[in-house]
Amino acid sequence: MTQDSAFHHGDATDAKPIVEMRDIEKHFGNIIALAGVSFDVRAGECHCLLGDNGAGKSTFIKTMSGVHKPTRGEIYFEGRHMNFDSPRDAMEAGIATVFQDLAMIPLMSVSRNFFMGREPTKGVGPFKRLDIAKANADTVEAMRQMGINLRGPDQAVGTLSGGERQTVAIARAVYFGAKVLILDEPTSALGVRQTSNVLATIDRVRKQGVGVVFISHNVRHALAVGDRFTVLNRGRTLGTAKRGEIRAEELQDMMAGGQELAQLEGSLGGTI
Ligand SMILES: Nc1ncnc2c1ncn2[C@@H]1O[C@H](COP(=O)(O)OP(=O)(O)OP(=O)(O)O)[C@@H](O)[C@H]1O
Ligand SMILES: [Mg+2]
Repeated sequence: MTQDSAFHHGDATDAKPIVEMRDIEKHFGNIIALAGVSFDVRAGECHCLLGDNGAGKSTFIKTMSGVHKPTRGEIYFEGRHMNFDSPRDAMEAGIATVFQDLAMIPLMSVSRNFFMGREPTKGVGPFKRLDIAKANADTVEAMRQMGINLRGPDQAVGTLSGGERQTVAIARAVYFGAKVLILDEPTSALGVRQTSNVLATIDRVRKQGVGVVFISHNVRHALAVGDRFTVLNRGRTLGTAKRGEIRAEELQDMMAGGQELAQLEGSLGGTI
């Protein structure tokens, strides 16, 4: 092991992929945002997607989550070839995405934001109505499981810290049965303490068997929880390394476009 982590890591990287992306290309007119990227995520692992600004990270995960259609390449979900026509399709399959700009309404309560129109109901026919008590209790419990004790489910989301808001979005995805959770830069706007809370949340989610795709351009954040690391550079992947097989400085170099993983492998005698 070349680095330490506060988190215990299992052998999830040997499991079968939940989602596998093969040779994905994405062109926007003349702009080639992705030039053939392969990537997969397995149950119970955190696979980090690293890269500098404009590398193609967001484009890639938008392709994974049904926002964009790939120009070329194939997507497999649980071994089956898949074409997601919309984010809803991907979500129904179990791919949940927490985007950089969280879709939340600050003045509404945590509980309303948690359910966003998917509240449990009670009664039937004309007597059917929202079961607010259950929605509230489930919200408090889901947040508690992620290590956050809410003052109350009625607390407005806008009064939570940035890290807590990220946790609401993560807890919500897990509650609704996500098999794959994609997090686009969840720690980029956070301070030290909130960052470590969000990283601990990622660790919890991973241990529940969810496959996490963690996008970051912070190597330290990625190394703290990641099981595997893939670096994107100008729409191309520079390879994937397992935890313990690569150092922070090497990842940093690759992000900057310095060395390809293959070259690095040569120079290190095939240890990657
Ligand atoms: N809808 C679009 N139309 C045209 N070009 C786009 C579109 N979306 C992304 N691009 C281009 O594709 C490239 C990759 O962008 P992307 O947002 O995927 O990068 P990123 O790695 O997420 O960067 P950041 O770290 O800044 O979030 C950029 O050159 C960007 O301008
Ligand atoms: Mg981005």
